[in-house]
Amino acid sequence: MRHKKPLTLLLCLLFVLALFISTPPSSAQRNVDIEKRVSALLARMTLEEKLGQLQQLDGQGDGNFRPEHVDMVRKGLLGSTLGVRNGGRPNQLQRIAVEQSRLKIPLLFGFDTIHGYRTIFPIPLAEAATWDPALAERSSSIAAKEAYAAGLRWTFAPMVDIARDPRWGRITEGAGEDPFLGAAFARARVRGFQGEDYSQPGKLLACAKHWVAYGAAEGGRDYNTTEMSEQTLRSIYFPPFKAAVDAGVGTFMSAFNALNGIPTSAHQFTLTKVLRDEWKFDGFVVSDYTAVQEMIAHGYAADGKDAARLSLNAGVDMEMVSRLFNQHGAALLQERKLTQATIDEAVRRILRIKFRLGLFEKPYVDESLEKTAYLTPESRAIARDIAGRSMVLLKNERDTLPLSKSIGSIAVIGPLADDKRSPLGWWSGDGKDDDTVTPLAGIKSKVSAQTKVTYAKGCDVLADDTSGFAEATAAARNSDVAIVVVGEPKEFAGEAASRASLDLPGRQMDLVKEVARVGKPTIVVLVNGRPPAIGWIVDNVPAILEAWMGGTESGNAIADILFGDVNPGGKLPVTFPRLTGQVPIYYNHLNTGRPPTTERYNSKYIDAPWTPQFPFGFGLSYTQFRISNVALSATQIRGDGSVRVTAEVENIGKRAGDEVVQVYIRDVAASIARPVKELKGFQRVELKPGEKRRLEFVLGPEHLGFYNQQMKFVVEPGEFRVMVGSNSQDVTEKTFVVQ
Ligand code: NOJ
Repeated sequence: MRHKKPLTLLLCLLFVLALFISTPPSSAQRNVDIEKRVSALLARMTLEEKLGQLQQLDGQGDGNFRPEHVDMVRKGLLGSTLGVRNGGRPNQLQRIAVEQSRLKIPLLFGFDTIHGYRTIFPIPLAEAATWDPALAERSSSIAAKEAYAAGLRWTFAPMVDIARDPRWGRITEGAGEDPFLGAAFARARVRGFQGEDYSQPGKLLACAKHWVAYGAAEGGRDYNTTEMSEQTLRSIYFPPFKAAVDAGVGTFMSAFNALNGIPTSAHQFTLTKVLRDEWKFDGFVVSDYTAVQEMIAHGYAADGKDAARLSLNAGVDMEMVSRLFNQHGAALLQERKLTQATIDEAVRRILRIKFRLGLFEKPYVDESLEKTAYLTPESRAIARDIAGRSMVLLKNERDTLPLSKSIGSIAVIGPLADDKRSPLGWWSGDGKDDDTVTPLAGIKSKVSAQTKVTYAKGCDVLADDTSGFAEATAAARNSDVAIVVVGEPKEFAGEAASRASLDLPGRQMDLVKEVARVGKPTIVVLVNGRPPAIGWIVDNVPAILEAWMGGTESGNAIADILFGDVNPGGKLPVTFPRLTGQVPIYYNHLNTGRPPTTERYNSKYIDAPWTPQFPFGFGLSYTQFRISNVALSATQIRGDGSVRVTAEVENIGKRAGDEVVQVYIRDVAASIARPVKELKGFQRVELKPGEKRRLEFVLGPEHLGFYNQQMKFVVEPGEFRVMVGSNSQDVTEKTFVVQ
């Protein structure tokens, strides 16, 4: 028996050893190791190879790489691709990088996976209308999983630009007009794409874009100049980006626009002072598509060489598609217009992320994933659920909705009623039109076998031809209700899709008018990517559902709502104007010395109301809610203190439903005037009929402070108003004082 003791000891030792080996190094240790590996690699690189890492080129559009990529990769002259995906192509190119190039540095495969890869979720603006960031985290994680299966490791998302001007087509890609809501969605999307650790299978490296103020393009015209104070940048446009950094986002994309005269792809202040020095961001910055070269047209760079100098020196690390860093890097170095240290730092940042992604250990993606990852029943179910939760009921007079599934007959009318393209939105990854459930299909599969569904297109979404109106009105006349699906085509949302008018394009408004005149209960369903101007509809049609571009499952989600299987609970993440001329119109504006009244000499238009059509945060339900007993935990607090806000919300109607309780503040007088309202808290809650819940929000210095004239974040003494309600206009107010 004596031999047992050493054996136990040995086993214990082995166990401890095994434990030691299998315990992953702490992330701090991992980062130290990565820095060592980066330095070692950098020391072996030629200048050409270094400049190669700074280059990203786009594929052929169909997922294939370009023939010239092969040679470049072999020579170590390419760092990343954009759009190379599917069918094992990334692995094919990667094999050349890892097996045939001198230093075997893996490539990084990027693509715009914005709101889905193959299963398409609602556009980001719609997801923001859920007021439930956890849903965006969920959809982003599914998008990541599908994109990863296609061989991708990097997405150019989330787009976190604040947009106060719905003429700008890219309002569709962000979370709307509010920095607080925008920050919550930025965090959620970064977490969704990257997970805890983006080196894990099924995760993507995320990219916060477009840095910065791209959403403030003058006149809403894409790529246009932006002018704004540092105060506005810091309080409105920066917060979602800061939230992305705090959530660990690995990359940033510099934008197309000039900011106060300096293109953002060469903006020292934003790229280096704020992003690196203040926020300590240690990932890399990729320029937007040819944005470096475009600085010549901006009138900021004299030529390509100058553009490369300005951009690299300001803090852009990787150049997308134009090749100026590569073409001029060596000459700039020789002329001492660029230092070796600057080039090395850019390369270091890129290699750091490649190491963090685990590309050196696992450069390939398992190609067999493609067979099972896409469009699973579970992904579709989640897409349907999120689409339903994103839709906003704008009007519902006399309980027009929900409809009975056993209704006798329905006319489904409109150019978007059976359109498979538009619901996918502008960025639809590798989503397929054929997979889209249209509103017509969703309605047909929802109603009873006895219900007669008549479809009439009425008109085209853009064209001038009204010859289909007669068929549409006849369908309405012969049915119990008319559902008219109108809005915008896919091409009207997204990049380079700015509009001078927010009216429904083509003859769609005339179609709605003709159908409504028939006199049957008429329901308008909007499929669109931005706030529309639909005054006539609001004044004349009893029910309106904002369905957005709702993704692959949008038709089913619309039917879920129209027939009451889902009770709408979405709220607008952006103000809806009455007419285009009111734009920009946003809830968190500054006051004037003459706030609008019916008196003549104050701040308004003489030919339009000053109020929006629907305010920020607005949305109805099939049930009713009462928000009551709004109370503050203190009437006075210290500058570093906080106040608790409590409120009760009760479902006083007959159906279960969701309410989004919103908390706004106003700092009444400050050393820089503060907005009339600022969102500082929200909670979406689900309540059964009769159910009541007490909600609590905490307002601390991070909510009460702002950037003063010295750009210091301060909480100033004085009176604060707290407003709690179901939208930004319908609120109960309390006050407290910061001493
Ligand atoms: C240009 C767009 O502005 C940007 O958002 C996108 O990521 C790149 N093109 C790549 O497609």
